[in-house]
Amino acid sequence: MHPDYVFDAEAEFGRKAPLIVEIGSGLGDAVCHAAEENPDKDFLAVEVYTPGLANTLIKINSRGLSNVRVVEANAPEVLATMLPPGSVTELWVFFPDPWHKSRHHKRRLIQPAFAELAARALKPGGLWRIATDWSNYAVHVREVLAAPPSSRTCTTASAAARRAP
Ligand SMILES: C[S@@+](CC[C@H](N)C(=O)[O-])C[C@H]1O[C@@H](n2cnc3c(N)ncnc32)[C@H](O)[C@@H]1O
Repeated sequence: MHPDYVFDAEAEFGRKAPLIVEIGSGLGDAVCHAAEENPDKDFLAVEVYTPGLANTLIKINSRGLSNVRVVEANAPEVLATMLPPGSVTELWVFFPDPWHKSRHHKRRLIQPAFAELAARALKPGGLWRIATDWSNYAVHVREVLAAPPSSRTCTTASAAARRAP
């Protein structure tokens, strides 16, 4: 992804609508289901795994979804440069790679710097939805979200943070 590329959702979708961004969309099941159920919202799937994106594109085409776009890119770069500040209504990270060994925790996607990038991309009052089935990752998320002043935590195995308006 070129660092100068900025995603213009209004131009891309041809309308003004809430933008939901899913980071690590995998095979696209969640984003395609949500897009089908919410035709009044627009969705961007961010994934580095090419076969996952191919599966997502197949679902988009077979279901005739016009409100989903995909990008093959590294999530921190998408949040830092591709998405305009305050452009995202909801940010989703569902079941990120757990990296369950202690020595690998630094590889986890959700880190303080990532939280700052998420806060940058979210609209005031925007919602960050995070789900994990690893209790240790849920604790890690709560610790990370407690750190940045712009975020606050709530819940347990799935966590959500709302950017302060
Ligand atoms: C455990 S899978 C979960 C996939 C999907 N969210 C689900 O619930 O089935 C984590 C996904 O995050 C993607 N991922 C990991 N790091 C990423 C990054 N830096 N940028 C974009 N995607 C990433 C992986 O390629 C993988 O598809």
